[in-house]
Amino acid sequence: MNSILIRNGMLFDSVKSYKADMLVQGEKIVAIEKEISVDLIPSGCEIIDADGLCVLPGIIDAHTHYHLVSRGTTTADSFEEGSKLAAFGGVTTVIDFADHDKSTTLADSAHKRIDAMSAKMHIDFALHQGIYGLPRDIDRELEELSGIGVRVVKIFTTYKNVGYLMPSETLREVFSACKRHNMLVCVHCEDDDYLEQVASQYDGDFSVRDHAVLRPSEAEKRAVDFIGSLARECQMSVYIVHLSSEKGLNSVRSLRKDGVDIIVETTPHYLFLDKSRLLTENGSMYVMTPPLREKADNIALQDALIAREIDVVATDHCAFTKEQKLSSSDCRTIYPGIPGTEEMVSLVHNFAVASSRMNLSQMVALLSTNPAKIFGLYPRKGSLEPGTDADFILFDPEHIWTIDDENIHSASHYSVYSGEQVVGKVVMTYLRGQLIAGDDVYLGKSVKGRFVKSDIPLEHYRR
Ligand code: URP
Ligand code: ZN
Ligand code: ZN
Repeated sequence: MNSILIRNGMLFDSVKSYKADMLVQGEKIVAIEKEISVDLIPSGCEIIDADGLCVLPGIIDAHTHYHLVSRGTTTADSFEEGSKLAAFGGVTTVIDFADHDKSTTLADSAHKRIDAMSAKMHIDFALHQGIYGLPRDIDRELEELSGIGVRVVKIFTTYKNVGYLMPSETLREVFSACKRHNMLVCVHCEDDDYLEQVASQYDGDFSVRDHAVLRPSEAEKRAVDFIGSLARECQMSVYIVHLSSEKGLNSVRSLRKDGVDIIVETTPHYLFLDKSRLLTENGSMYVMTPPLREKADNIALQDALIAREIDVVATDHCAFTKEQKLSSSDCRTIYPGIPGTEEMVSLVHNFAVASSRMNLSQMVALLSTNPAKIFGLYPRKGSLEPGTDADFILFDPEHIWTIDDENIHSASHYSVYSGEQVVGKVVMTYLRGQLIAGDDVYLGKSVKGRFVKSDIPLEHYRR
């Protein structure tokens, strides 16, 4: 069995930091002590000196779409390519999504995705199951789904055109069934009726910039209000994916004040990019849904992040090549989505930790421990404790580098953050005790990623 001793590192979990040695045997962390005594160190143990580096739990990107087949095309990053770029970004687990194949059951839909990912992924993964229509026997189907380790479902309040939208009454049934089965509902919030109303009054030419005009933040606000009211009615928690606007945030605030448990995810692009990007020469490359907003929205979300009003930062990584993105300049048909997994930890560190607005433990909470707790993967993932999976990264908090199309690894071959100088870089990434990326070299090709079953969501989570 391989063993590794990480010596002299500064360990961070979501609440504390301390200088210690960490011993890994096989796939697990077996000991963490101030100084691990020589007689505990197995012969042949590899010793890594982590002096000056931070040891963090493996990052979890809780919102990815690798190898997504949609709108007549497939996203640029396959499961292999997604795993590789994730390893460079310190990400050891992603949470991806299974489409709802309405010709079969939810569990079968999930199984298909789990099988496809198990065959090709080189990092671990959990899964959320999309629901796009009411199954005939939802109780039986949810029970079956839970049984295979998928305890989180994803619904949309928009995308009627691609068959994802369910009527309000159906949503209500899905919510109350999830409540009965102790499952968590994640929601993409944009009110489709309002979007239709905006579109009916629009007389523009559907240029790239009008993506933001046609999907205003008011739509997000209305959907958050509605979803919050459903959660209140059903007395359950709800998770909002990729919150993008101050209006949406203010809705979350008033719902929380009323006692509704709204869990909020945002993404680096809603924190750091604004809609002026849509006016640039290759504006299509900045199209995702919801769209980029105003600078004021960035700042509101940034402040909320620092004030701990946001629970999770994840990326919604949904990469298309430049050719795919630029194949249309009509905002209704540009493939929506951008890459992001690889850049996430450096961007968040640069903004929040390097500027001393947040400490590293708080960053660990946002990028690893919180998603693990919320989605039922904790403590196996998202922690540094003896007995848990040896998923960890060595992170250099002082390394200054510039994100560039040439030094990131997405098969889309571009980063929306190209040219940004950031402080903080992943030096080594370990998945279950195996080095999968180190010093800018990918080593994960022969490592098999595994499906991680979700236990009870939210069991360990308190804001
Ligand atoms: O534009 C985006 N976000 N594409 C991915 C699908 C989604 O809505 O999350
Ligand atoms: Zn979405
Ligand atoms: Zn998404």
